[in-house]
Amino acid sequence: MKNLLVTGGCGFIGLNFIRYLFDETDFDGRIINFDALTYAANPMSLQDIATTYGDRYVFIKGDIQDRDAVASVFKTYAVDSVCHFAAESHVDRSIARPDEFIQTNIIGTYNLLQAARDQGDQLIRFHHISTDEVYGSLGAEGLFKETTSYKPNSPYSASKASSDHLVRAYNKTYGLPVTTSNCSNNYGPYQFPEKLIPLIMLNALNGQPLPIYGDGKQVRDWLYVRDHCTAIWSIMQNGNDGEVYNVGGRNEMQNINVVHLMCKALDEMADALPDGAPRDSLVIYVKDRPGHDRRYAIDCSKIERELGWAPKESFETGLAKTIHWYLDNAEWVRQVRTGDYQRWIEEHYA
Ligand code: NAD
Ligand code: TYD
Repeated sequence: MKNLLVTGGCGFIGLNFIRYLFDETDFDGRIINFDALTYAANPMSLQDIATTYGDRYVFIKGDIQDRDAVASVFKTYAVDSVCHFAAESHVDRSIARPDEFIQTNIIGTYNLLQAARDQGDQLIRFHHISTDEVYGSLGAEGLFKETTSYKPNSPYSASKASSDHLVRAYNKTYGLPVTTSNCSNNYGPYQFPEKLIPLIMLNALNGQPLPIYGDGKQVRDWLYVRDHCTAIWSIMQNGNDGEVYNVGGRNEMQNINVVHLMCKALDEMADALPDGAPRDSLVIYVKDRPGHDRRYAIDCSKIERELGWAPKESFETGLAKTIHWYLDNAEWVRQVRTGDYQRWIEEHYA
């Protein structure tokens, strides 16, 4: 892999993946980061990478919905491998406004697959990043396996399921060398504060309400983002064409317990609130999300068995690292909270 196209590389997982490849692996090729810079993107988070790695890091502001722009980047940079993160990724936004989810997640993925196919034998790996949400919701027992049937419940998960089917079809029909990973909820450094953990983190630090949807007993399987990155790279190098790998953290937890753990850890690690109240007192129960999936949990034994990957972080260790990162990066937090990062994008990428 000499010319690796990373789509959505200015988003949370994509930028962690780019940092991981450059800083911690023997990858010696070039990364072309193609990102539309939506609200979820933060190219400032990669400024040090751009400076340090020079020609080996190329950023292109572009939209995967734009078929000509996608085709052009494949040709211009002789793309031989793809790691496809770009997506609209937040369930609540998909409920309010599904349109962008259809356009980006389905049509955008289709445009990438077509351009990848046009590369012919030059294209050696197309890795597609997907979610466990395509499998729907579990009851109290059981785990999602790669063979579990698809039952998406939100516009987000339905659009991701659709993209997964297209990726599979391009392997079966055209022999495109694809791999897909379906992972559970990620958390860690650089996550935009619309998802549960960074939203609770920033609100709890600032003494603002901590909203819990419904009864808070929904279960997610938490995966530290760096563990996810190691899994992706392992699949891209050693995964078999056409295969799907489930990636999870083996860290199931109810939302309300996640929030309690975070409050306790923040009370110990951060400055006390001005009134001295414990952060748990900020919890409020709010109206539930429509179609809210009750439980996700991943069986990741296939990737453990076949590729020798395993998550390194427990929820406690991953959460401590995450809290340290947010406390140590107050300027990043300020820019995201105030919207300054978007003003910076307008100045640099108008
Ligand atoms: P994110 O929302 O933080 O970032 C998405 C990135 O994609 C942004 O930089 C955005 O600008 C870019 N993007 C959006 N639309 C685009 C378009 N039309 N063209 C080009 N770029 C575009 O997302 P994330 O949390 O980093 O998730 C990355 C991938 O992982 C997504 O495919 C998501 O479905 C999947 N995933 C995420 C999680 C999670 O917990 N975050 C869990 C499972 C799967
Ligand atoms: P989220 O981070 O949006 O991820 P997903 O919906 O993809 O799992 O939400 C994680 C869980 O936390 C989910 O059950 C919804 C719940 N949640 C809250 O209770 N309050 C919140 O403010 C948010 C953002 C999520």
